[in-house]
Amino acid sequence: MKTRITEMLGIEYPIIQGGMHYVGFAELAAAVSNAGGLGTITGLTQPTAADLANEIARCRDMTDKPFAVNLTFLPALAAPDYPGYVKAIVDGGVKIVETAGRNPEQVLPALKDAGVKVIHKCTSVRHSLKAQSIGCDAVSVDGFECGGHPGEDDIPNFILLPRAADELEIPFVASGGMADGRSLVAAMALGADGMNMGTRFMATREAPIHDNVKQALVAASELDTRLVMRPLRNTERVLNNAASERLLEKEKRLGADLEFDDIIDEVAGVYPKVMIDGEMDVGVWSCGMVTGLIDDIPSCQELIDRIMAQAEGILRERSACL
Ligand SMILES: Cc1cc2nc3c(=O)[nH]c(=O)nc-3n(C[C@H](O)[C@H](O)[C@H](O)COP(=O)(O)O)c2cc1C
Repeated sequence: MKTRITEMLGIEYPIIQGGMHYVGFAELAAAVSNAGGLGTITGLTQPTAADLANEIARCRDMTDKPFAVNLTFLPALAAPDYPGYVKAIVDGGVKIVETAGRNPEQVLPALKDAGVKVIHKCTSVRHSLKAQSIGCDAVSVDGFECGGHPGEDDIPNFILLPRAADELEIPFVASGGMADGRSLVAAMALGADGMNMGTRFMATREAPIHDNVKQALVAASELDTRLVMRPLRNTERVLNNAASERLLEKEKRLGADLEFDDIIDEVAGVYPKVMIDGEMDVGVWSCGMVTGLIDDIPSCQELIDRIMAQAEGILRERSACL
């Protein structure tokens, strides 16, 4: 399949695995890239720039295909060493970076000078246009359905993607709620040049996370996610669990007085305990509504082959209706 995204990134299929905290390790990124998509290492999961350099080298040992690194700019108590991470990316020969969270302007000059393609992930048309205007090469448009941070506008992809298509000149991929060949065909019909998936790639054999997490995704339905931290304007879509219920109860009880410190037990330091130790109720963790469409744990190769076969089947079958 050839789209502006496959051409720009040098990949076989327009399917990207988005950065995921404590999920996007070299094993998953390499498996997605080896299957013809674009795998992504999550930069900030690595505690230091030197650790990121090692992770990039590990990934390089597992694949000779292109892969990306995600750099997330989120409100953090101590700012991470972004210049160090950028240096590890450039020195490691990585040619694609996914940025997210905030305007990536601070890292663009160093990345562009090194010939790195920058895909900025954002949740609105106005932020996509801003990304285009500052020189990003592509955007990943993340709809309200998405796992993680959907922003505060609440626009689902059936509206957001065609709006983005009407306004953008640079290529974009559809993100949020994507799971299968139907998602890919729909994303392309709505104007995207491919799709980005997070939650779906967690439920794969190569995702280096605890089996409890994968089983939870298989068991959950589309009704099982919750939006937390909305009063702090840092909305996150998470899988419903004991911690999300505790957190939402605090939001209700404290109302406008809610502060980050009130919910720190439910959000801080949660990811390694969930993803590595499989402690499912220790805190809140990102999960998309698309969990309702996940009912198996294939390899990345099986998943991507199945997506492409289904997409092709749909296009053939539907064009016969004309
Ligand atoms: C467990 C998990 C962790 C995530 N961590 C990050 C992250 O650290 N940085 C980031 O930019 N996006 C993160 N995301 C968002 C994904 O990259 C992707 O944009 C999102 O999952 C797409 O929606 P979907 O889950 O419906 O496919 C995370 C998503 C999940 C499910």
